[in-house]
Amino acid sequence: MRLKVIGSAAGGGFPQWNCNDRLNRLAREQGVGERTQSSLAASADGNGWVLFNASPDIRQQISKTPELQPAAEAPLRSTPIRAVVLTNADVDHVAGLLSLRERQPFAIYATGQVLAVLDANPIFNVLDRAIVPRRVLHLGDVLEICGADGQETGVRIESFAVPGKVALYLENSAMPEADFSSDSGDTIGLRITAEGCGEAFYIPGCARIDEDLCLRLEGADLLLFDGTVYTDDEMISAGVGQKTGGRMGHLAMSGEAGSIAALADVMVGRRIFIHVNNTNLVLDEHSAEHAAVREAGWEIAHDGMEIRL
Ligand code: MLT
Ligand code: MN
Repeated sequence: MRLKVIGSAAGGGFPQWNCNDRLNRLAREQGVGERTQSSLAASADGNGWVLFNASPDIRQQISKTPELQPAAEAPLRSTPIRAVVLTNADVDHVAGLLSLRERQPFAIYATGQVLAVLDANPIFNVLDRAIVPRRVLHLGDVLEICGADGQETGVRIESFAVPGKVALYLENSAMPEADFSSDSGDTIGLRITAEGCGEAFYIPGCARIDEDLCLRLEGADLLLFDGTVYTDDEMISAGVGQKTGGRMGHLAMSGEAGSIAALADVMVGRRIFIHVNNTNLVLDEHSAEHAAVREAGWEIAHDGMEIRL
């Protein structure tokens, strides 16, 4: 199985259009570490591809990834993208669906909650359900991802709820608890595998790591995990926002309860941070934070990173 990180940044990308701090200026002026928004592609046979999340940068991501472009001998309208699996309804994960219009068959997979969000937004009707079927992911089911025509892609997934929250634009301040402590499928993690291949876990958003999650991850070949922020309050201390990582549904990398510490004793082949926010100092390869993460055995994903399992 081939896995390609086609977008390694969190929502907003890096640099983000309106960010003017040192880190974003470094990226803008020197092209250091530029990253597009959160998305992963997987293929069991190198021909058909499954996307995990459809970012607002999808057009650019396809342009940079020949495997995701129509093959020279393919029909006049074609794509190797057979399906898109969504891990939540955040803008950085669903807005790219709108760029996949043009009456091209592929399948969408998401939990009932996330499909309900698409169903409630008529703009997603640009994807005619007769051509682009929407399929419900039931937590715990192991299933083979199929294209719109029902043909198996060879990519197999299992979905499981992770602590998270509803999408930012669905937050309802009258019910903050419901918004910020969802663990019932508003945000999911995925185990991804294919016949005869190792297994990868893809968890681009996760608010908390508990014993169950550690047991689930034990022994995996690859973990792609939420690397949004390095410290919980980095947006506040950098003076660029009011929200903590926790308030956004993202566990920080550092600290006693952070992901590096929480996963230190979990045996996985490779551990890679993805969905990295433009405030996260690990994006500066010369920073102490970058060195600390590498020292702890983690890699930091970049666009175009490929892993074979
Ligand atoms: C997140 O990961 O917290 C979201 O992408 C935030 C957003 O939608 O801007
Ligand atoms: Mn996001």
